[in-house]
Amino acid sequence: MRSLQAGRLRSNQMPRVRIHQHVNPLAPYYRQPVESIEIEKIFADPSLPLHLDIGSARGRFLLKMAGIEPGWNFLGVEIREPLVDEANRLAEDHGLTNLHYKFCNAMLVLDKLLEKVPEGVLQMVTIQFPDPWFKKKHAKRRMVNRELVDAVTKKLADGGKIFVQTDIEFLAGEMFALFRDNKKLAEIETTENPFPIQTEREKAVEDKELSVFRSNFLKI
Ligand SMILES: C[S@@+](CC[C@H](N)C(=O)[O-])C[C@H]1O[C@@H](n2cnc3c(N)ncnc32)[C@H](O)[C@@H]1O
Repeated sequence: MRSLQAGRLRSNQMPRVRIHQHVNPLAPYYRQPVESIEIEKIFADPSLPLHLDIGSARGRFLLKMAGIEPGWNFLGVEIREPLVDEANRLAEDHGLTNLHYKFCNAMLVLDKLLEKVPEGVLQMVTIQFPDPWFKKKHAKRRMVNRELVDAVTKKLADGGKIFVQTDIEFLAGEMFALFRDNKKLAEIETTENPFPIQTEREKAVEDKELSVFRSNFLKI
């Protein structure tokens, strides 16, 4: 498996951690059970609406969102554990009490992870540029599967939204079809990103002037 080089110190003085570029979500290590999140233990004000970002990577999107939206709590979930540890350290360094990251395999355990989140709290879900796992033999490793769609839809508040974007056209088709199949969701087609912050991947895609496929789904 390829490793990224440990980077130099960045302007915020956080060394970039050494990580694998991809991990196999079906490997035994990533099939471990997960403890349910207890929002009163991770956020200063658990009564705030919750935004869940699935596949949060280094977490910079949520770090910026949490800074400019103090009226929301933000939870990032990510399968590459070192990135989660680094992102939580950064959130603490910034004194953000409305931001937390959790190591988990979102394709398997989201239902359990969100079990204790009170009804009506989860109001926004983002899934941005998930790994495409291009080869047919790796299709089962793709993060957005029916279980994930059902788990987030079950916990999403009425009127809550799911925003999905990717630069990979076939993956957009596959993901949007799964969300369209869920009868509790209504699609609101969009070409725009509704957030004031771009993810790292979105910036890279935009720099290359590639197309981005986006959609919103509203819980009805
Ligand atoms: C291409 S990156 C995009 C990261 C970020 N959302 C962005 O737009 O910059 C996809 C991220 O999803 C994570 N990921 C892939 N499969 C996952 C899974 N089953 N559970 C949680 N995270 C996963 C990867 O480790 C990676 O950090």
